[in-house]
Amino acid sequence: MTIITRESRRKSLGKPRLEKAPEHVAIIMDGNGRWARQRGLPRSAGHRQGTENLRRIVRAAAEFGVRIMTIYAFSTENWSRPRREVMLLMRILETVIDRELQELDEEGVQIRHIGELDGIESRLARKVAEACEYTRDNQRLILNVAFNYGGRDEIVNAVQNIVRAGIAPEDITEATINSYMYTSDLPDPDLIIRTSGESRLSNFLIWQGAYSEIYTTETYWPDFGRGAFYEALVEYGNRRRRFGKTDDQIDADASNYARVRERTI
Ligand code: FPP
Repeated sequence: MTIITRESRRKSLGKPRLEKAPEHVAIIMDGNGRWARQRGLPRSAGHRQGTENLRRIVRAAAEFGVRIMTIYAFSTENWSRPRREVMLLMRILETVIDRELQELDEEGVQIRHIGELDGIESRLARKVAEACEYTRDNQRLILNVAFNYGGRDEIVNAVQNIVRAGIAPEDITEATINSYMYTSDLPDPDLIIRTSGESRLSNFLIWQGAYSEIYTTETYWPDFGRGAFYEALVEYGNRRRRFGKTDDQIDADASNYARVRERTI
């Protein structure tokens, strides 16, 4: 009998184990429209192909050891797109829930929604809430779907709720604000990936992304497959995160950590 472990599965798919996988990866899935235009296809074909790619990347993320993934599926600004395209993106989310929920659940994916359900058609809003509830105990990968999400909106909501809670100004710290964000129980993203050659955050996780590493690529989202995703994670592993410190401080922290670890093992 062959026992398929996560290790052997990785090996069989030809990707060496990552030394340092980011715990939380956020993705701005950009370039669906240009991907379609390049092929003389309607924008809807780009979104459909982008959805196919999302399936691949969610599975790859779990396989590569990523624990949390946040995807930007529909921003508060996307309402200004042509009505047909807005409707299509709503339908896509509904179809993804209808067709994929069972399999995602079996694969241990916990679906969460970040953003406002208010303003979304009630049937879809109910499906989103049910998908979150159905998968709430899964632990392999947390998939945050940012839908009708805006980073500034999120901060405005947080401030309103802090005021409503009657918290005194002098008691408000970063931790207080963090505890009112949609992602309050999650670590900040280690890595934010944006496809299609753009280098902006576009109102995505603007609070949580303060120290995230940013990776951009010219590749359009539908073509950003498993191999490209793996490359992004490898590059992340080669970066040195300083959180405002100097290189010397980081070196000292690393050797202190190694000393403490040696003593405690
Ligand atoms: C940006 O490409 C992409 C979006 C606004 C939507 C992203 C949606 C998907 C990948 C499909 C999966 C969706 C859900 C709801 C699960 P763009 O249209 O701005 O491309 P362009 O900049 O080339 O025009």
